[in-house]
Amino acid sequence: MASKTAYSGLQIGLHWATALLIAANYFISDGMGEALDAHIAGDPVLGLTPVWHVWAGTLLLALVIVRLAVRFLTGAPQIPGQKTLAERAADAGHWVLYGLMLAAPALGALTWFGKLDSTGDLHVLVMNALMLVILGHAAMAIFHHYVLKDGLLKKMVPLR
Ligand code: HEM
Ligand code: HEM
Repeated sequence: MASKTAYSGLQIGLHWATALLIAANYFISDGMGEALDAHIAGDPVLGLTPVWHVWAGTLLLALVIVRLAVRFLTGAPQIPGQKTLAERAADAGHWVLYGLMLAAPALGALTWFGKLDSTGDLHVLVMNALMLVILGHAAMAIFHHYVLKDGLLKKMVPLR
């Protein structure tokens, strides 16, 4: 694969669309435990939160799969020369993010569509791990851009 120097518009769009959906689903999740109990018991599931959480989450899962396919097919911008330890750690961190952002909605979908009470706790556990890694990721991005002043954010924010 030829090495590229920037993320494509599609990659940038998918980065922010998935980030937005993850944040929205985190905040629009209250009462999902009760909604799941009703769904499993065959009782009516009340309120808009479960409708949003399940369908926005399912859209997110589809977008993460597309995002990973685009990543595998088109790669990421390459830094010329030998990678430093910090750069290799950042790469590893990105793969942890991809793994968690795939696993969290996949476990949610398995729980809901499979009517499985047992995987609900795992969904919430993986989601919490995802949130922690996201906080670290965003903090590192801001640190690079504003403290190290290396312009890192420009890689994901197309404004010049
Ligand atoms: C739900 C929130 C987020 C998720 C899941 C996420 C995920 C990711 C992933 C997986 C990558 C690696 C892309 C690749 O190389 O294929 C990435 C890159 C990047 N993200 Fe995020 N991100 C999130 C939020 C943010 C935020 C809030 C910022 C800015 C404050 C940000 C800034 C960046 C930057 C600058 C890069 C490029 C890093 C580089 O290539 O060296 N991200 N993000
Ligand atoms: C990354 C995306 C997602 C995030 C951030 C997220 C976040 C959350 C949070 C914070 C809870 C706890 C709510 C509470 O107990 O008050 C929860 C529970 C739940 N979510 Fe998600 N969710 C995501 C994706 C999904 C998807 C795609 C589905 C289904 C298609 C789903 C189904 C559920 C279910 C069934 C529960 C209840 C689990 C239980 O209590 O046993 N979630 N989610």
